[in-house]
Amino acid sequence: MSKPNQSRGGVGGGGASGSGNNNDVYNIVLLIVDLVMLVIKFWLTIVEEIIKMFTTRPETNVAGKFVLITGAGHGMGKEMALQYASLGAKVICWDVNEQTNSQTVKEIKQAGGSAFGYVCNVVKREDILELAGKMRKDHGFIEVVVNNAGIMPCHPLLEHNEQETRLMYDINVLAHYWMIQAFLPEMLERNEGSLVALSSCAGLFGLPNLVPYCGTKFAVRGYMAALAEELRLKNPQCNVKLTTIFPYMIDTGLCKNPRFRFPNLFKLICPKVAAASIIEAQRQGLEEAAVPRHFIAVEKVGRLLPKKAMRLINDFLDTGVDSDKH
Ligand SMILES: NC(=O)c1ccc[n+]([C@@H]2O[C@H](COP(=O)([O-])OP(=O)(O)OC[C@H]3O[C@@H](n4cnc5c(N)ncnc54)[C@H](O)[C@@H]3O)[C@@H](O)[C@H]2O)c1
Repeated sequence: MSKPNQSRGGVGGGGASGSGNNNDVYNIVLLIVDLVMLVIKFWLTIVEEIIKMFTTRPETNVAGKFVLITGAGHGMGKEMALQYASLGAKVICWDVNEQTNSQTVKEIKQAGGSAFGYVCNVVKREDILELAGKMRKDHGFIEVVVNNAGIMPCHPLLEHNEQETRLMYDINVLAHYWMIQAFLPEMLERNEGSLVALSSCAGLFGLPNLVPYCGTKFAVRGYMAALAEELRLKNPQCNVKLTTIFPYMIDTGLCKNPRFRFPNLFKLICPKVAAASIIEAQRQGLEEAAVPRHFIAVEKVGRLLPKKAMRLINDFLDTGVDSDKH
């Protein structure tokens, strides 16, 4: 609904004050209509979201599409590369480690899939932008970009040195920005595509021995939420999907000293299972997805509880990661 001219009549002007009163009435009616619409849309959205929770969401087809994954040489990146390829996607594997990256590409090709490997240190912005240009030239539009490469030094904050801390932010956060700067413009131009960012449960909860790492993973959560709002407000019909992933501990070797009091309840998740869950979330266009899924609900409930009560539960569960230095 177009808003009327908000200027009010002059204080002393007779005729102007009459039109001012009309404007006031109009504005009040408009506000009431807006409020009624808000209440209706609010409840419709709540009902819609509840229904979605109990129905299977459709998944987009990735067959024949280009999917780029950073850190594809190992762990979840490798598993995602293999699984996207098995879905018919043409997978572009980026990793700083040429040997492991080539191995991923080789395995995909041996299984009859399509893959392309490139060495890239995602810390280097210029390298990312240059390689992104090459991708456009050699392959065309990249439909899905997964910001996966990450490192996780794990020890008390005062034992982290400057170099390690800076590198963590460079790889886990800043590299994501450079990737987005490289690939988002074309997605927006075409109004399609999907950006996936690996945060972590360390982006939902503050965890000891992981202070800078938690900082990087909360940063991923924050910038993805902000970017989603920026895109939505710029174009309410924006069809570029943003998906932030919050995995619990995955058995890739990244988590060197996991500690579980109840190993049957909390245990390392198999990278294959984690990769399948991430791909499902991307294909369903979910904005946020934890692995396992219910961890986001746990975090939401946890935030409602007093901090002291939450700490009692944390101490009872006694689950986390011990320092990799001792
Ligand atoms: N494993 C877990 O328990 C866990 C849990 C939550 C979130 N995550 C996140 O998931 C992502 C993948 O984790 P993972 O366990 O598969 O890790 P991983 O160590 O198994 O694999 C990471 C890959 O990234 C590559 N890489 C590292 N630095 C790079 C750089 N500068 N440029 C390009 N590639 C680089 C490595 O060579 C490696 O192939 C990370 O962002 C991690 O923080 C992992």
